[in-house]
Amino acid sequence: MDVNGAVIVLTGAGSGIGAELGRRFAAAGAGRLVLTDLDGEAVQAVAEQIGPVAQAERLDVTDEAAVAGCVRRVLDQHGRIDLFCSNAGVATGDGLAAGEEIWQRAWQVHVLAHVYAARAVLPAMIAAGGGYLLNTASAAGLLSGPGDAPYTVTKHAAVALAEWIAYSYAEHNIRISVLCPMGVDTPLLRTGLRAGALGARAVAASGEVLSVGQVADAVLRGLAEESFLILPHPQVGKFWAGKAADIDRWLAGVADLVSRADRAAD
Ligand SMILES: NC(=O)c1ccc[n+]([C@@H]2O[C@H](COP(=O)([O-])OP(=O)(O)OC[C@H]3O[C@@H](n4cnc5c(N)ncnc54)[C@H](O)[C@@H]3O)[C@@H](O)[C@H]2O)c1
Repeated sequence: MDVNGAVIVLTGAGSGIGAELGRRFAAAGAGRLVLTDLDGEAVQAVAEQIGPVAQAERLDVTDEAAVAGCVRRVLDQHGRIDLFCSNAGVATGDGLAAGEEIWQRAWQVHVLAHVYAARAVLPAMIAAGGGYLLNTASAAGLLSGPGDAPYTVTKHAAVALAEWIAYSYAEHNIRISVLCPMGVDTPLLRTGLRAGALGARAVAASGEVLSVGQVADAVLRGLAEESFLILPHPQVGKFWAGKAADIDRWLAGVADLVSRADRAAD
């Protein structure tokens, strides 16, 4: 996947990882960047900072008609979409007691939004001879996210969906990467840390919190290599293999991490 000259759509581009990906894709010579976010003002500001290659649109990724409309407009204006990045995400900080609405929201933003994007964009990509999806999940989707059950469960589903798309559409030259970082210094993590949330503390205790620039470096490398898994924290691959090799040992290790994070908060 060469981003140079590519027509790229990004969701959740008004902040954090998405905004940085927009800046880095522009620096790497993207032909057109369509930056979208639920927060229309924030994404407009990011597009203005990037310059004329970028355009901004307010888009709620949980609204299938709106996602399809956005894809149609980009295809009308620019003729093709080479890369669609489903990146929007929300942390909940909740456990089993999270209300129905919170569980549904996590499912909609982390899973159904990826389904809506793929449904909207794949026909045009297939007709064009191929295309690329970049779906942001999380290390919580391979390992786990202590303190946030709706986030963990739906990020696992996001990884499963990406795997499913990878093998189901390979014959149509549709390629897909799934981005699975641990802690990244963005408002999503900072808000949790400020609130003293267990999930955010456990993330900070389990490895280096990366800058959005470090994550963008990993994404550009992963896209160039067309790697299915993009792991800005390489140790996630080792932890994932360890989990598969001995789940009981792995669960005991996470339980220990949770109790250390709890003790550190006292
Ligand atoms: N920050 C971390 O530690 C971390 C770690 C692993 C994975 N991630 C994932 O990275 C992605 C980006 O998160 P971030 O850390 O940059 O957080 P962020 O809060 O800075 O950015 C997330 C963006 O998504 C947008 N968004 C939320 N709901 C939306 C909706 N319904 N429609 C459209 N946009 C919506 C928000 O407005 C926000 O601009 C998320 O999927 C997140 O789960 C983050």
